[in-house]
Amino acid sequence: MNEIFLQIDGREVKATEGMTILSAAQSAGIAIPTLCNHEKMESYGACRICIVEAETFGKPRLVAACVFPVQKDMVVKTRSEKVDRTRKMLLEEMLAHAPDSEELHKLAEEYGADKDRFEKEASFCILCGLCVRYCAEVKKKDALGFVDRGAKREIAFIPEIAARECWNCKECFPLCPTSALQAAYVLTEALAFPAAKQQHEK
Ligand code: SF4
Ligand code: FES
Repeated sequence: MNEIFLQIDGREVKATEGMTILSAAQSAGIAIPTLCNHEKMESYGACRICIVEAETFGKPRLVAACVFPVQKDMVVKTRSEKVDRTRKMLLEEMLAHAPDSEELHKLAEEYGADKDRFEKEASFCILCGLCVRYCAEVKKKDALGFVDRGAKREIAFIPEIAARECWNCKECFPLCPTSALQAAYVLTEALAFPAAKQQHEK
């Protein structure tokens, strides 16, 4: 793998070709906020909170650090007025869906996001996909997935698989940045396989 050098927040950082900006920053101890990224899973690029300003050939643009590859002599700013404004807006939108998320509240404080800026549409899920991807990519069970499109898109457990696989796993629960996942599971369990729950509790 070819080594390349780029600049992140004024520091020269060594990276290898093909690495994302996020990985290069993390390897240099530079923090970039993430919500849909996890080291055990493929990059997904859904939440955009990792947005940074990246300049190549004198052209700056906003890119998602978790999916955008490093380039030689690239100049990256992980914080700037534009970056902070974008993160603030994204957080305000996400807080309309998940107003009780502690993780979002912490970030909102840092970026001065107003949690009441947008009308609440509390689906509690910010569609980060961590739960779905963890089950598919790490556990290889596919016990849950996304259903519907657009504003109606949500996660759903597949009862036949969940009844068999989830009761003694639940490894996806702590990954969820909101309370959506546990609520969806409890509902599925109550509606679709209450008998299995009792059996496992015996
Ligand atoms: S339920 Fe939680 S982990 Fe799953 S997609 Fe929604 S916010 Fe992400
Ligand atoms: S962490 Fe990069 S898009 Fe979500």
